[in-house]
Amino acid sequence: HAKKAQSSFSFNPIAPVPADVDDLTVPEGFEWAPIIRWGDPLFKNSPQFDIDHQTAEAQALQFGYNNDYLTIIPNPNNPKRGVLVCNHEYVNENLMFSEKDWAADKGELRRVAMAAQGLSVVELKRKAVGSPWEYIVGGKRNRRITTSTPFSITGPARGSKLLKTAADPTGSVVLGTNNNCSGGLTPWGTVLSGEENFDSYFVGKDTAEFKRYTIKNKPSVHGWEDVEPRWNANNPGYENESNRFGYIVELDPEDPTAPPRKHTALGRFKHEGANIHVDPKTGEVAAYMGDDTRFEYMYKFVARDRYIEGNRKHNMRLLENGSLYVARFTGDSPAAEIDGSGKLPSDGAFDGTGQWIQLTDGNKSLVPGMSIDEVLVYTRIAADKMNPTKMDRPEDVEPSPFTGKIYAALTNNTDRGTVKDGKQLESATEPNPRNNNRDGHIIEITEDRNRVSSKTFTWDLLLVCGDPAVNEATYFAGFDPTEVSPISCPDNVAFDSQGNLWISTDGQPGTIQFNDGLFRVGLEGAERGHVEQFLAVPQDAETCGPVIHDQENMVYVAVQHPGEDGSFEEPRSYFPDYANSSVGSRPSAVAKAHGTVAQPRPSVVQV
Ligand code: FEO
Ligand code: CA
Ligand code: CA
Ligand code: CA
Repeated sequence: HAKKAQSSFSFNPIAPVPADVDDLTVPEGFEWAPIIRWGDPLFKNSPQFDIDHQTAEAQALQFGYNNDYLTIIPNPNNPKRGVLVCNHEYVNENLMFSEKDWAADKGELRRVAMAAQGLSVVELKRKAVGSPWEYIVGGKRNRRITTSTPFSITGPARGSKLLKTAADPTGSVVLGTNNNCSGGLTPWGTVLSGEENFDSYFVGKDTAEFKRYTIKNKPSVHGWEDVEPRWNANNPGYENESNRFGYIVELDPEDPTAPPRKHTALGRFKHEGANIHVDPKTGEVAAYMGDDTRFEYMYKFVARDRYIEGNRKHNMRLLENGSLYVARFTGDSPAAEIDGSGKLPSDGAFDGTGQWIQLTDGNKSLVPGMSIDEVLVYTRIAADKMNPTKMDRPEDVEPSPFTGKIYAALTNNTDRGTVKDGKQLESATEPNPRNNNRDGHIIEITEDRNRVSSKTFTWDLLLVCGDPAVNEATYFAGFDPTEVSPISCPDNVAFDSQGNLWISTDGQPGTIQFNDGLFRVGLEGAERGHVEQFLAVPQDAETCGPVIHDQENMVYVAVQHPGEDGSFEEPRSYFPDYANSSVGSRPSAVAKAHGTVAQPRPSVVQV
């Protein structure tokens, strides 16, 4: 495992920030600035951002909307240069376009939306290690991936009849990626990205398969099917287009000409993201993943081949062949002691054992009655047959590079234990111990023998989130709850150089009373469970993609959907430029120098 370093980084935690503050709040002594914002030009031929005259052609040459997963990689041989890779998960049409223009749209604004999603790769430069980054217009590795970029399909379902369309009779090349939420940096230097809520772009049919992926047979909210026939399964030849979304994609930021890949071996569901752990003893490789919907499952992929240090070509293909597993968690306390309130059982812990249930073995299906391509394309249906554990919305699942223990954010599930549409939904279990779980929890998984290929594990809840001042059913791994920052709706996780876990949250707008933020929590010794808030994002925004370079005194976040509950006509946020605004920490003189507009712009921020 990686060796822990000495951090030079310390901070006084901030107090929770009320939900109407349109500012980015950082601890005393820290400063922040955007690195790049929605619409910023990436290439020498990119038009300047002009919010009133947007075109798809311009957007495809500019930084996209709603940045989520983020990674920042300094060049190993010259750390004053680097590269940023970022997902653009979705768009807020109500903030991007005026109501009048949207109502009159003949298709161009929907094409802008298609070009505003996907990913960005952007080169960075800085004066010295630890000083702020600037992005480079026209950097050699700069790249935009959009809804029209060709992706190559890999793995056992490549070429399957379930993936063929009129435009791609080979079932091997897909145009674009969608709803890329979280992701992960691989040890071989590529970026993984999860295609999450792709269902909202499709019109489906009334079949069990479409229903299991919540694709409805009615007009979509985004209206792309009026612009391109492939988004509607009722158009002959496009029955399978939606089967080509919902994967883990892999992108090589070093090669702007290489087609990114969609890996069918890792299954198809609403992928939050994927994170790799290489077994330090054996070189075995696992990817840990969550299906982010209420009552969905957690998964693990174990590669057939082992990691070879320094052999990038070999390692780049590790995710094309292996075994897919789904998780079953068993509690060790009597079921009667899990009453849905979140009160600890008599053994003093929410904990137990678990199993990885195998769904595939290379090209072989282990699911009765389903072929290998059915298992990999309709993974939710395959998993349903194997009795895995329904979780409270699994978001990021990430192994600690220091211990190999795996941490999963279960963001919330207000449906647990409730009656919905006349149906009693599953009640609390030891791994998901609260009914009407608004605040979420963090589960810690330890593979048996500490091997990534283990089929069994133990688990415990590290945190049962909430505000301990108003909610008795919180738990901080035994840490004094009067000494922690309140935390709700954990979403993305990251590690610093000392092995602390950092958690960003997604409760706004609407679910929690404070602005979303970024929190540090110790995992070992006296600091285990000590949650401290590092920053808060502006009104209605979500804190995404934390990157913690504590040895350089730097933290990076992607600020997603600032002012989401507002509109183009009546903005609720002016982040990050604060033009025409008296709020915020950036005076309008600075805003003017940046050439800004009076609208919020999702942005990557450095602290
Ligand atoms: Fe896009 Fe699971 O958050
Ligand atoms: Ca227990
Ligand atoms: Ca997320
Ligand atoms: Ca989210």
